[in-house]
Amino acid sequence: MNIKGVILQGSSKSNGNTNKIALFIKEKTGFDIIDLKSKNIAPFDYDFKNKDDDFLPTIKEIVENYDTLIFATPVYWYAMSGIMKNFMDRITDCLKIEKEIGRKLRGKRMGMISCGFDSELKQGFTMPFIESANYLGMHYLGDIHTWVEDGSIPKQLQNDIPIFISEKIKPEI
Ligand SMILES: Cc1cc2nc3c(=O)[nH]c(=O)nc-3n(C[C@H](O)[C@H](O)[C@H](O)COP(=O)(O)O)c2cc1C
Repeated sequence: MNIKGVILQGSSKSNGNTNKIALFIKEKTGFDIIDLKSKNIAPFDYDFKNKDDDFLPTIKEIVENYDTLIFATPVYWYAMSGIMKNFMDRITDCLKIEKEIGRKLRGKRMGMISCGFDSELKQGFTMPFIESANYLGMHYLGDIHTWVEDGSIPKQLQNDIPIFISEKIKPEI
């Protein structure tokens, strides 16, 4: 199977730690990266007054070009980043006003990468991703927690991330 994947980078720093991890995964998988910080994506609005911002073109590009979506988020206050949460909230647009896009999400594959201060990830962090994938009819592939030490990806992760990729994301590698 030729898997076409995209890493959705949800950090508040385009070239920060989450980007380091995203670039490492890009190198191993050939997946593209979409930097959500570089997009103008407003919070969800019940009146859809923001429907002309970058969300709809971005999600259209994703559903039309990729079958595997890797949500890459830093850990901010024990949860996904605000940028990532806004993006997730806006998927609601695809269930309300752009239903065709919502339908196209069905059957796609979702993975998640968290990037925190250290090796500890508090319980419950992954739940919104797993449940959202279920709700959207997406196939949840799994997740890996990462961190960066002194500007570098620790040896342990340089070993574990490729294993995660080959076991969960891209089994043919
Ligand atoms: C607003 C904010 C909140 C944070 N909260 C946490 C946290 O709850 N747990 C944690 O492990 N690290 C926390 N950190 C540290 C970051 O997760 C960590 O430095 C991460 O590698 C930053 O990735 P980035 O450079 O892509 O932003 C926080 C950092 C910021 C800026």
